[in-house]
Order: sequence, then C-alpha cells, then structure tokens
Amino acid sequence: MIGRKIRRDDRITILSGAGISAESGVPTFRGEDGLWKGYDATQLATPQAFARDPQKVLEWYTWRRKLIAECNPNAAHNAIAALEDAGYDVTVITQNVDNLHRRAGSRKIVELHGNIFKLRCSGGCSGIITISEETPPENIPRACPACGLLLRPHIVWFGEFLYPEDVSAAHCRLANTDFLFIVGTSGVVHPAASFGYLAKEAGAYVVEINIELTPLSEMVDATLIGRAGEILPKIFEPLLGAK
Ligand code: OAD
Repeated sequence: MIGRKIRRDDRITILSGAGISAESGVPTFRGEDGLWKGYDATQLATPQAFARDPQKVLEWYTWRRKLIAECNPNAAHNAIAALEDAGYDVTVITQNVDNLHRRAGSRKIVELHGNIFKLRCSGGCSGIITISEETPPENIPRACPACGLLLRPHIVWFGEFLYPEDVSAAHCRLANTDFLFIVGTSGVVHPAASFGYLAKEAGAYVVEINIELTPLSEMVDATLIGRAGEILPKIFEPLLGAK
C-alpha cells in the first residue's frame, strides 16, 4: 500500500483537515457541499464580525456545534486512535475544531485551530472553558466568569494568529517524524499547508490521502486517492496485531 513499511518504533504523525471528518457528516470548508458555500466566512469567522454582531457569530457557532454533536468519529479517526492505543508513537496535528479525534480516543493531539467545544474570554482573560457535545445551547455560558465580558469560541479566526505553543509543538513533532500522513486537507491554509515540506526536509516519508489531488500532491512521497475512512484502516489495521 505505501512505499515504505511502518516499523514498530516509527514516529507517526497525522496532519488532518476537514476531509477526515467528511464521512462523519461534518461539512468541509471548500468542498461542493462546503460550509463556506452557504456562508461568507469573513462575515462570521473573524474578530471584526464578532465585534460587529456577536450574537450572529455566536448563533452560527451554536448551529455548527449542534451539527457536529450529532456526528461521530468515523473509521479514519478510529484507526488513528487504535494505533495509538496499540502502543505506536502517534501524534495528531489537526486543523479541525470538531473534537472528533479526541472522541475517537486519540490523546496526543495538537488542535492548531482550536476546538468548537472550548470558549474563552473575548477580553483576553486567560481561562478556557470546556463544554461538551451534550451541553444544551441554553446552558452554554455567555459571560467570562472573571470579567463579565462575552465569551467567544476558542477558535482561530481569519486574520488571527495561531497559539505559538501549538505551532511550536507541531514544528517540533514534524522535525522528529518518520511517517507524516496528510489527510483530507486542501493544503491552502498556512501554516498547516507548509507542514508537509517541514517534515519532508527533516526526513519523513510523507503520504497524502485525499479524494483528489491538491497543491501538496507534487511534494509528497505517495498520494493515495480515496476516502480517508477507507484508506487509513487498510494502512493501520495490519499494524495493530504486530505491536
Ligand atoms: P477544506 O474544505 O479546504 O478541504 C477539505 C479537503 O478534504 C479537500 O481537499 C477534499 O478534497 C478533501 N476530502 C473531502 N472528503 C474527503 C474524504 N472522505 N477523505 C479524504 N479527503 C477528503 O478543509 P481544510 O483543508 O481542512 O480554518 O481547511 C483548512 C482550514 O480552512 C480550516 O481549518 C478552516 C478553514 O479556514 C479555520 O477554521 C481556522
């Protein structure tokens, strides 16, 4: 299936995008049924939009949270978590905010763009409040317990910087990876779009899994065209008995 066999102590990193959750029913951003098709992201996922109309932005995230809460991890998320459970050195670096890797059981996760089930003070107080898929909209806290300002989604909006600690955690892992699987991302949003290059320069074997070619396809060692939920289990399940 892939050009180089994964060995027991190989360091395996998954860089995932919205495509890994598509089979769970979570809309992607730029696909045919993409989220951005129905909404102008710049009118909703930006600090300016939140300042202009916080209620509209909060309602959009409540709608997205409700949709995601009805979705479940799919075979791709589960195969990654099973590999970690089997004792392999697996780290997930995800652009997704849907919490599905964690719900599948993955524990070593870098949430580059945040998590839709986390809230933080819009005024910059340090605390992060975690809610769950079961939290009813009416029970989602609205005001920062420390200062009373509005709570906002702990998500990286357009025009915002990623948390430095997340980027450095990702860079550190990418520099020390034997296999990087780039799964379900269009490869157009930085800094994640550059992560494949970083890993390859550091000696990783880079595999792309997508239903179509992307700007990353010419750089990777292998491109596997197909659905993540079908391809990843085929790659990882044979390893589970070997550990
Ligand atoms: P996109 O919607 O840009 O791309 C989704 C990718 O997944 C596309 O390349 C699809 O071809 C592929 N795909 C769809 N279904 C698939 C499947 N079943 N198996 C494998 N691949 C599949 O989503 P991202 O690349 O994740 O940022 O977008 C990156 C960022 O742009 C997002 O994190 C978001 C957005 O702005 C923030 O929310 C901060």
